[in-house]
Amino acid sequence: MRVSGAKNSVLKLMAASLLTPDECIISNVPNITDVQIMMQVLRTLGAEVEWEADHLRIRPGDLKSRKAPYHLVRRMRASIAVLGPLLARYGEAMVAIPGGCNIGSRKIDMHLKGLVELGAEITSEHGYVTARGSNLKGAHIILDFPSVGATENLMMAAVKADGNTTIENAAREPEIQDLAAFLGSMGAGISGAGSPIVEIEGNADLHGTSHASVGDRIEAGTIAIAAAVTSGDVEITGINPSHLGLPLEKLREIGVEVEENRDGMHIKGNGDYRSVDLATLPFPGFPTDLQPQIMVLLSLAPGAGIVTENVFESRFMFVDELNRMGCDITIEGHHAVVKGDGPLSGAEVCATDLRAGAALVLAGLAAQGQTDLLDIHHIDRGYEKFEEKLSGLGADIRRAAVDEGEEF
Ligand code: UD1
Repeated sequence: MRVSGAKNSVLKLMAASLLTPDECIISNVPNITDVQIMMQVLRTLGAEVEWEADHLRIRPGDLKSRKAPYHLVRRMRASIAVLGPLLARYGEAMVAIPGGCNIGSRKIDMHLKGLVELGAEITSEHGYVTARGSNLKGAHIILDFPSVGATENLMMAAVKADGNTTIENAAREPEIQDLAAFLGSMGAGISGAGSPIVEIEGNADLHGTSHASVGDRIEAGTIAIAAAVTSGDVEITGINPSHLGLPLEKLREIGVEVEENRDGMHIKGNGDYRSVDLATLPFPGFPTDLQPQIMVLLSLAPGAGIVTENVFESRFMFVDELNRMGCDITIEGHHAVVKGDGPLSGAEVCATDLRAGAALVLAGLAAQGQTDLLDIHHIDRGYEKFEEKLSGLGADIRRAAVDEGEEF
């Protein structure tokens, strides 16, 4: 199966398109709720956005608004990505302060501190953060932590600042490299993306572009783990396997056969697994966005594995749901002890967030009997046609009902 374009890249490319009045075309775009919400954010700001086959055509023109409202930001925190581009282009931006979510409190202090270092004035009132500054100046910014969102927002703000900017301790995720490539194709000068030091030339006069987003490594990793938990045999394409270096290494340690090729990987599970320990870390560490899914696989491997969550403070909320399906997972602070204790059993369970929802689907595929998963709107945020793709691979899964709420 072929993975879709990366949610975590496309959302930022959409925000970056606001840096120019010209038309930008982004292809390899997944049809997921988060992209639809970002389309609404861009439209609210005044941009024309159209879906055409698998690509988005964005014509920002002269934006009429500088404000990303709460009713959209509360549905998708990544809306904060418009802060940097709006500030860079108009000297003013207002974004509703994103609240906490089911995986942690998720502050934006590093985004704001970096913008202040670029010369912006930040005020925060009535639930909105406002950044002002028509004369941003290049700066040397050192992040406390390699935050993905802060690195991206600062790259997008710095391209139009007066002078060059260096971001040290920058996030190194493949999506950062994709954003740098997108900005480069708009006329920006960015080097070092993918390393801990990103250098951005200021004063860029950016023009429209056409760019295909990178493949979704988290979707690829989720499908790879689905193959492992069902002892399946799956060919995954549309993804650079080096974007999944450590997860594939962990799958091999567990006993899954993994063959990497130019455009993807071949995954073969056999059910004869052993437990491993792992810790989530910023890229190239083990991605926190695959932590819930790998817990399901570890639950099928005899022995005890320790999973340490270092990126988000409360990303274990789904564990109670997995335990209802027969997993044996104990939480101690930011560590989870996962005991591989025999077969899982299908149950009615509830998705608490996007990746937890995916993990519960994988548990349902591995379990004996039927699993009914509620609140699947979380999954629709980030996986395109998840159940169709899985049933195409042989899974017995279907969307059961249309709910009155956000589910569909
Ligand atoms: C992005 C991804 C998300 C992924 C995460 C880590 C998108 C849309 N989302 O989220 O799927 O799980 O990277 O790989 O791309 N932090 C602060 N202050 C800040 C910024 C972050 O304390 O100003 C903290 C966060 O609370 C979190 C950690 O830093 O604990 C990492 O956050 P960050 O890398 O910024 O993640 P996001 O960009 O929000």
